[in-house]
Amino acid sequence: MNTYILIKDIQKELQGYLDKNLSIGFVPTMGALHDGHLSLLRRSKQENDVTVCSIFVNPIQFTNQQDLTGYPRMIEQDSKLLTEEEIDILFAPEVDEMYPPGEESRMDLDFGRLDKVMEGKYRPGHFNGVAVVVRKFFDIIRPARAYFGKKDFQQLTVIRHMVEALQLPVEIVPCETVRESDGLAMSSRNLMLSISERQLASRIYDVLMFTKANAGSVPVKKLQVMAQKRLAETPEFRIDYFEIVDKQTLLPVGSWDCPEQILACTALYLGEIRLIDNMELFS
Ligand code: PAF
Repeated sequence: MNTYILIKDIQKELQGYLDKNLSIGFVPTMGALHDGHLSLLRRSKQENDVTVCSIFVNPIQFTNQQDLTGYPRMIEQDSKLLTEEEIDILFAPEVDEMYPPGEESRMDLDFGRLDKVMEGKYRPGHFNGVAVVVRKFFDIIRPARAYFGKKDFQQLTVIRHMVEALQLPVEIVPCETVRESDGLAMSSRNLMLSISERQLASRIYDVLMFTKANAGSVPVKKLQVMAQKRLAETPEFRIDYFEIVDKQTLLPVGSWDCPEQILACTALYLGEIRLIDNMELFS
């Protein structure tokens, strides 16, 4: 595996592949790699000639300084894992390389309600920061395909919107959420949970499964309240939201009329750690 920290160096290698018409698959990450990331990387390897993984803890998408400082960083371990997975290229730039001092780091793109609801309401500016860095990565790497997990469903939706609005020549490939054996969605943040918090965290999955089991038979709003109450039975959870929404608009649904479009989404704090998860209710 070749590792690059400078844009000009990675571009030099990638240009060689583009000149030969080889396809580049791209998996953007913030490191602390787990099986969820590996599933994206393996898919990229299957579908492309060359796979690039980026590791960059993107400061402008954090809305809380403590969260940014405490975010797990383990580049050596990650790099070893990527080598074992036979990933072709790791791109791990420093902050100044991605955001040269004095350069504008906001995106002037209208996301409508997509970046205002749910995560957007609790973390204003977060999706702008994600969109800026992903756009920059696309410009640097010029991938044919980029892989995103459905665990961050709102992020996936925002990125799809950006790609469509700016007509970027990249295919966005959504990948299924990978879960631990007790159902907890894999996330780098799980590493920051204490042992007792980690045990409680799987209750998020239980509530999503309860919602899925009752979807269609209980009115939407009633089921949403029932699910919220179930979450609240764990006093350690500080719930930001539990919503039943349309997968495209991310707005709350009032009926079960378009079942294939319906998703339950939640975010909550467990101690200092904010966890998010979602589930398609009729798939
Ligand atoms: O999902 C993530 O890990 C990040 O939001 C991403 C896509 C790597 C952008 O920083």
